[in-house]
Amino acid sequence: MSEVYDAIVLGAGAAGLFCAGIAGQRGKRVLVLDHAEKPGKKILISGGGRCNFTNRDTAPERYLSTNPHFVKSALSRYTPRDFLDLVEAYGIAWHEKTLGQLFCDGSAKQIVAMLLEECAKGDVAVHCGDAIASVARGEEGYTVAFGARSATAPALVIATGGPSIPKMGASGLAYDLARQFGLKVVQPRPALVPLTLPGSEALFRELSGVSTEVVARCGKAAFREAALFTHRGLSGPAILQVSSYWQRGDTVTTDLLPDREPGWLKAAKRERPRSALRKVLAEGLPERLAEALCERLGLGGELGNLSDKALDAAEARLACWPFVPDGSEGFAKAEVTAGGIDTAGLSSKTMEARKAPGLYAIGEAVDVTGWLGGYNFQWAWASGFAAGQAL
Ligand code: FDA
Repeated sequence: MSEVYDAIVLGAGAAGLFCAGIAGQRGKRVLVLDHAEKPGKKILISGGGRCNFTNRDTAPERYLSTNPHFVKSALSRYTPRDFLDLVEAYGIAWHEKTLGQLFCDGSAKQIVAMLLEECAKGDVAVHCGDAIASVARGEEGYTVAFGARSATAPALVIATGGPSIPKMGASGLAYDLARQFGLKVVQPRPALVPLTLPGSEALFRELSGVSTEVVARCGKAAFREAALFTHRGLSGPAILQVSSYWQRGDTVTTDLLPDREPGWLKAAKRERPRSALRKVLAEGLPERLAEALCERLGLGGELGNLSDKALDAAEARLACWPFVPDGSEGFAKAEVTAGGIDTAGLSSKTMEARKAPGLYAIGEAVDVTGWLGGYNFQWAWASGFAAGQAL
């Protein structure tokens, strides 16, 4: 005999738990299923264990989606302030780190405990540790077989996230289910991910561990944050941010000295012609990087021996240093997945599939990807709230 619920939520992650708590507290009988042995595993490792749970500067423009308007409705109905009110109601201490990013003072465990408590308040059943064997639609609704049991409900919420970090339990189930019920999937790709550099850039790969603040650009996207050289290429927040916009063949440029006024190298030459270019660069950059840049520019020695033309060219290059990555570190290292269940098939108000009544998709499973810095959790809460209200 199949157990009967009002809604079954697949995935006990950020979006699934939050959605289930909202629906449960509205009096719905909700079952949450997850194949991992415990809920909220990605939340626990997020933000270095402190969970960057939202961003004060959340705005639709800070999300990538084939339909950039899709996020507007849900984000406006559940805001960072709403989530912060919940965090504060649970007495969870928090702080703003930088750029509107809000973190727990203590541990991400507090956010998972809060979400589970919200579920408990709504009498939600959370079952972990069994694989989803099958999902079928019949007259009574959606029937999910898991372990030795099965459950049926008129509503099914896909909240199983994307394939990033498979070792944390991520899978492509969301896309398989979407296709099974006639929804399209926008080609998933790793996002917020380190980029790799080809062998011709070995000079920079040798700088592994060196980091500096830059303005990184890819297409129209620009982010001023730290960039980090790694033994495989480039990482750090500025690079992770542009990686979501990067496609194979694109050039990523970095302004390596973003605070310098135009003409600064010529001015330095007039002021101290005996100074070496490498030394002048090292005033604003880590020494090893300054050395590598001089080598790549083919310029050495004292500033006074370099022509103004050469200095202008060097300055222009430093302000727009091009890197052509040959790939990314893939889903194994991607903080999120870009692409996913096509928003064209979903209601932006309720997250319900137009073609499959009773089927909902929320969180990272959907073709919505936020910037780094709490935006992805805010999408999980907002889309979970939208569906949780509608179930
Ligand atoms: P989420 O991945 O949280 O949950 C999906 C659930 O479905 C999981 O519990 C999984 O086990 C389950 N599942 C998957 N396949 C299944 C299957 N086949 N059967 C049953 N269950 C299945 N974002 C942010 O805003 N601030 C931050 O600080 C961070 N930090 C961060 C660090 C790291 C290392 C990573 C990898 C990611 C982040 N993120 C982040 C991104 C953030 O974690 C992510 O956007 C949300 O967790 C997405 O929430 P979802 O609920 O959609 O998926």
